[in-house]
Amino acid sequence: MKIKGFLEDISGIKRITKARLDAIKNAPDGPIPEDPIRKIAEEWHPGELVLTVQSVRMSGKEARTYRFVKPEGGKLPLFLPGQYLVLTLDVDGKPVSRPYSISSAPSEARLENGFVEITVKKPREDGFFADWIFQHLNAGDPVKALIGCGQFYYEPLRDAPLILALAGGIGITPFVSMAREIAAGKLDISMTILYGANREDELVLFDELTALEQEASGRLRVIPVLAEGEGGSLTGRTVEQGFLSADLIRKYLGIGAGDAPDTSVFICGPQAMYRYLRGELAKLDLPKRRIRFEVFGQVKNIADYEGYPTEALGKTFSMTVHRGIREDVIPAQASESIAVALERAGIRLETGCRSGECGFCRTKVLSGSYFVSPENDGRRAADKDFNYVHACAAFPTSDLSIRIPIA
Ligand code: FES
Repeated sequence: MKIKGFLEDISGIKRITKARLDAIKNAPDGPIPEDPIRKIAEEWHPGELVLTVQSVRMSGKEARTYRFVKPEGGKLPLFLPGQYLVLTLDVDGKPVSRPYSISSAPSEARLENGFVEITVKKPREDGFFADWIFQHLNAGDPVKALIGCGQFYYEPLRDAPLILALAGGIGITPFVSMAREIAAGKLDISMTILYGANREDELVLFDELTALEQEASGRLRVIPVLAEGEGGSLTGRTVEQGFLSADLIRKYLGIGAGDAPDTSVFICGPQAMYRYLRGELAKLDLPKRRIRFEVFGQVKNIADYEGYPTEALGKTFSMTVHRGIREDVIPAQASESIAVALERAGIRLETGCRSGECGFCRTKVLSGSYFVSPENDGRRAADKDFNYVHACAAFPTSDLSIRIPIA
């Protein structure tokens, strides 16, 4: 049988070769007026787009959902449920970019008047970009967006078709995109979401999730997990009290009640939740390939990481930035990443995840020292050897000299 399969493969190649030779023989003399492959590639992956805010709506006590469309109408690029977009806005005359998980479904982007949505929570502290959005971004405003980034999506070759989603606060947004696609019958998985929040009034997009549960005919289940209060108004649904503990995860994975079903665990939430959950998940002895963390954005307190040189704390260094033949000297605070220092100086560097993962912000360090948190050091070994860093995840610990591409 093996030999037959091999021979079939060979004959397949022969067929392709003949088809190619025929295509070459019959090709027109001049260049093809429109390359169909290029046309599809440009439609699906057009790079950064200028979009318009079509609407803004409340999606919880302190959360708003922003819907973006093309100013001229039409379909938006393809993405996968769970991916994020990179939003670039002019903040006080300087271009500033941040990643936001897309909370709408891919099928909604591909409508004739397609749209994408992000949901933003009013920050409690240190969230100047989200603050700026809350204060200044309104319907009719232009934005720039790169749609369809990141690895946080269901991949059938890698993930189990049963998903246990662990969401913390605004970390619910990628799961809402997945839930919408499940309810639309376009994503063939079943998902249980353990949705952690302090109180029930902090549950974001909860009405939409409740409606999606009805539409998804048993393939979507949402369990609020409340640290405070009992979820008084959530009558008729299961509510858990406390935190996303190992015991709770075990309960919803079905471990301890016979054989555990083959389930992938997807996690999205704030940085503090990740640290806590890593400890809880370690108690469960799950295969590593079944646990997926979404990237968590910029490191908040770099000095909390083991190995950080504390003598750098509180200092502001001088950073020389080379771009082509240009050279600028700017301040760089020890507590902020190289990417943030560039942003403050109004120097554009392409960024995506802001978590050290995607490599968009790859930067050559010519001299000086820096610290990269082990948790989001996504550099390749060769990059480390040749002194490249991901500027969003590298923090200056001395005066620096760097080279960046001209954006
Ligand atoms: S923006 Fe993704 S690695 Fe820096």
